[in-house]
Amino acid sequence: KVDPSPLSSVVKYTSQQSALSSNNTANLSSNHWSFNKTLSNLIRKNILRFLDPERDISILKGTLKPGDVIHYVLDRHSTTNISENLYRLLPTVSPMRNQHHRRCAIVGNSGILLNSSCGQEIDSYEFVIRCNLAPVKEYSADVGQRTNLVTMNPSVVQRAFQDLASDEWRERFVARLQSLQGSVLWIPAFMAKGGEERVEWAARLILLHTVGVRTAFPSLRLLHAVRGYWLTNNVQIKRPTTGLLMYTMATRFCEEIHLYGFWPFPLDPQGRPVRYHYYDTMKYDYASHSSPHTMPLEFRTLNTLHRKGALRLHTGTCH
Ligand code: CTP
Repeated sequence: KVDPSPLSSVVKYTSQQSALSSNNTANLSSNHWSFNKTLSNLIRKNILRFLDPERDISILKGTLKPGDVIHYVLDRHSTTNISENLYRLLPTVSPMRNQHHRRCAIVGNSGILLNSSCGQEIDSYEFVIRCNLAPVKEYSADVGQRTNLVTMNPSVVQRAFQDLASDEWRERFVARLQSLQGSVLWIPAFMAKGGEERVEWAARLILLHTVGVRTAFPSLRLLHAVRGYWLTNNVQIKRPTTGLLMYTMATRFCEEIHLYGFWPFPLDPQGRPVRYHYYDTMKYDYASHSSPHTMPLEFRTLNTLHRKGALRLHTGTCH
């Protein structure tokens, strides 16, 4: 068993996953946090027993060729082929090779960010990770603009860019990607079936417009390795969210990790409504049986690590 102590107090929460109580913010007050370097180093070491984020962040060109068949990680019976376009977008070396940063921010997509005025603070980190191509321009006062790595589930193409069905949506998509010059665009193309065409359309547009993003496609073992790490620490996660995947990988590249926009609850600590996403009207569905995630459990896990100083959760306003 990999040292369970850092997370031992998470276990007792598992039976109350959807309960929203003021406990969610217990010890989240900004004044009492200090970085626990020893614990952070220990977590990094333990995670490295399960995965090597520098390698697992992307499949490399040398390991595949066009036409190769891939079994989807979560739908083992379904397969896809490596297209010419996708092959061209595979990196030749890890986009995170030799990257080490002192302070990183991971920005989740909760509406808790609205009116936070955290934009400037977020932009001050050396490395900023964002999720699912969330818009920044219109919300920069609260979420910042700096982006060093951004994820894109294939479903984003449908949800946020209308399946690129018209010239206007294709232009918007390309413009969003062009604003990411030099950043890593992390596309989990082989996790679940159903996104094949969307990935292909995106790949085609990236190549056609020679968009300067550095594409990355997570290794086929990443998801299970991350789940394995948390399970070994008694955190029974069905399927890690993008946010938790990013935290788990960032431990490899970042000393101090700060999380913003992680708040999977419909009310804030003062009982005011909070949007699921800061930028759209999507509803909370994590409690439904169809959701693959256990976000409140993840939150409590992160909160435990926050209390121990291994990471810092920011859920209030910034000054
Ligand atoms: N998140 C959160 N609270 C919310 C919404 C999101 O803590 N109300 C975090 C989650 O860790 C999530 C990440 O922010 O993975 C990015 O949000 P989103 O794009 O909504 O991810 P989902 O599509 O919900 O989940 P995934 O991509 O992981 O399937």
